[in-house]
Amino acid sequence: MSHKEKIFILLKNADGILSGEKISRELGISRVSVWKHIQGMIASGIPIGSSAKGYHLAADHDSLIPMECGRFKSLVHYLPETESTMNDATALARQGCPHLSVVAADRQTQGRGRMQRSWYSTDGGLYFTVVVRPDIPLMLASLVNLAAAVDMAELLHSLYDVPARLKWPNDILVDDRKICGLLSQMEAEGGQVAYLNVGIGLNVNNDPQAHEPLATSLKTLVGRKIPRRQIMVGFLERFERRLAHFDTSLLINQWKANNNTIGRQVRIATIKENLSGKAVDLDEHGGLVLEAPDGTRSTAIHGDCFYN
Ligand code: BTN
Repeated sequence: MSHKEKIFILLKNADGILSGEKISRELGISRVSVWKHIQGMIASGIPIGSSAKGYHLAADHDSLIPMECGRFKSLVHYLPETESTMNDATALARQGCPHLSVVAADRQTQGRGRMQRSWYSTDGGLYFTVVVRPDIPLMLASLVNLAAAVDMAELLHSLYDVPARLKWPNDILVDDRKICGLLSQMEAEGGQVAYLNVGIGLNVNNDPQAHEPLATSLKTLVGRKIPRRQIMVGFLERFERRLAHFDTSLLINQWKANNNTIGRQVRIATIKENLSGKAVDLDEHGGLVLEAPDGTRSTAIHGDCFYN
């Protein structure tokens, strides 16, 4: 365990203020080292207050700091602010970080969504990217993103009883208002998935309506402030289990059971073309099957979906 982790545990277990001298004795390091470690911890976003008497940890049930993330703590990289957690995750993945490494941030200055849109990432929202190295064939890679959406929707339902529904390919809606968006990025090597990054933006305590009038947040739905860490850790637990036993037919069934796209008239826009029709099915690769009025069927593999 690092000195910073030890200091964190001492502060967490302390009943009030802990003097620098006590910490230096417990750890067998100088008071100057204690001070330096604490400055580093404060700089990385850990809410430590200091006074002439010593240091204390501000209770913050919402913080995403690794030390509070239970068994995922060694996998979580927390940044108070970053351009986009997708960029940080790509850098980590290219350095060979382990499966299920996570980059989480309180704010993003260049958060991005699908189809080259911006993702406004103000304080209070949950923004994180998970690096996964699934042992599945390349052609099934797009299912990992669907899996993440299913896991998040089921988690929101079980934690907060909100009727979260999936909109193809990767949005989560409540009462037709967007609450969560997912974005994935992949690199392949020799026909295999080298890594796949799943970025998740969830409206928790932020107010998305300023930028997206048709969006909602958990706080609006539940009527109180919601701790983001519980959601991130809960999601990681589900996603880890899912990837350890990747069952495609179970996933497709779960997606179908939780979606509100099938049965609707839709338009799918890609950078190149538009496809329209009635959404009638999800195929085994996660493609949306559309039916035209004359009964002919086509499958959309990617794109943005609009309900008509
Ligand atoms: C979409 O609905 O278009 C997808 C939105 C994905 C946003 C998340 S927030 C965390 C991660 N970092 C980003 O820049 N984007 C994703």
